Amino acid sequence: MKEKPFTIKHVLDIASLSPDQITYILDTAESFKEISTRSIKKVPTLRGKTVINLFFEPSTRTRASFEIAAKRLSADTLSISASTSSVVKGETLIDTARNLEAMQPDVIVLRHSLSGAPHLLSRHVRASVINAGDGTHEHPTQALLDLLTVREKKGKIKGLKLAIMGDITHSRVAHSNILGFTKMGANVVVSGPATMIPPYIEKLGAKVTLSIKEAVQGADVIMALRIQLERQNKLSFPSIREYATYFGLNTQHLALAAPDAIVMHPGPINRGVEISPELADGPHSVILDQVTNGVAVRMALLYLLLGSETRMSHGDTKKDEKNPPSPPFTKGGHPLSPPLKKGDTGGFSGESQ
Ligand code: CP
Repeated sequence: MKEKPFTIKHVLDIASLSPDQITYILDTAESFKEISTRSIKKVPTLRGKTVINLFFEPSTRTRASFEIAAKRLSADTLSISASTSSVVKGETLIDTARNLEAMQPDVIVLRHSLSGAPHLLSRHVRASVINAGDGTHEHPTQALLDLLTVREKKGKIKGLKLAIMGDITHSRVAHSNILGFTKMGANVVVSGPATMIPPYIEKLGAKVTLSIKEAVQGADVIMALRIQLERQNKLSFPSIREYATYFGLNTQHLALAAPDAIVMHPGPINRGVEISPELADGPHSVILDQVTNGVAVRMALLYLLLGSETRMSHGDTKKDEKNPPSPPFTKGGHPLSPPLKKGDTGGFSGESQ
């Protein structure tokens, strides 16, 4: 493993990571992949550390892989869902986190339906905070595992054409991937229904086309996205059937891409809606490789956060002045949602939407 300092205290978004930091995370993740192939998949690296998964929204992949990653590094883990916590009795996110922090965790992994929730949390707790998906804002660990998968399959990221297809407006995965892949030198094109492509998206570095065929033409990577029905009050298109007909990706689209194109999807998949089963299960699909790489990326992040020399020990209430958590949506961020003000705890009842 490279001897290079990694002094980040929280992983809140891709917007605040530099290309060097992203490369360092990917290199570290690559070195951790081997552990998961052993018959005894456990190393003592994080023995004595505690990781709390605090999930206010449903999850299969992210939650399971954070838990597996922590366990493979011998950390103690605890997973909490909003529905089985005292959030249902009215406790706020901050009060929940403060009470959990009284038990001395080292990392809190947070998924929340409100954009900016992890950034807010990071200002109220001493533990490191990892964003496991916040509203429509970002899903940084998904982008990191996607970057790792593309680098692994293609041998590079720079210069590749990545086509991200579908519900861009409501997809935190799309936002993190546009930022991550453009930072690493890829050319990102997004496409989907006009009602699902927000006007600010080009500011993040992506090219927009309403023609699916143009988007996938010559693409090295095709990434399909689920329609985020849980984040919209009404459909942005006439019907699911119509969406599948006009915007669902299938083998005819793949035929327009580069011959060795790979097909990605962050999951969960809605088969026959945004992607055909033939494409999802076909030889170009790397969807399950993404899931495998999710464990390695999360192992790397836990290791890098907890192994950092500048990390505060418990009982030290001093702020890390060198690496303060970057506020969301300020310079270097992006205008996906209204910013949370410093000290703002209102509205965070912790209810999942
Ligand atoms: N990709 C992803 O975040 O999946 P989950 O919602 O199952 O965690």
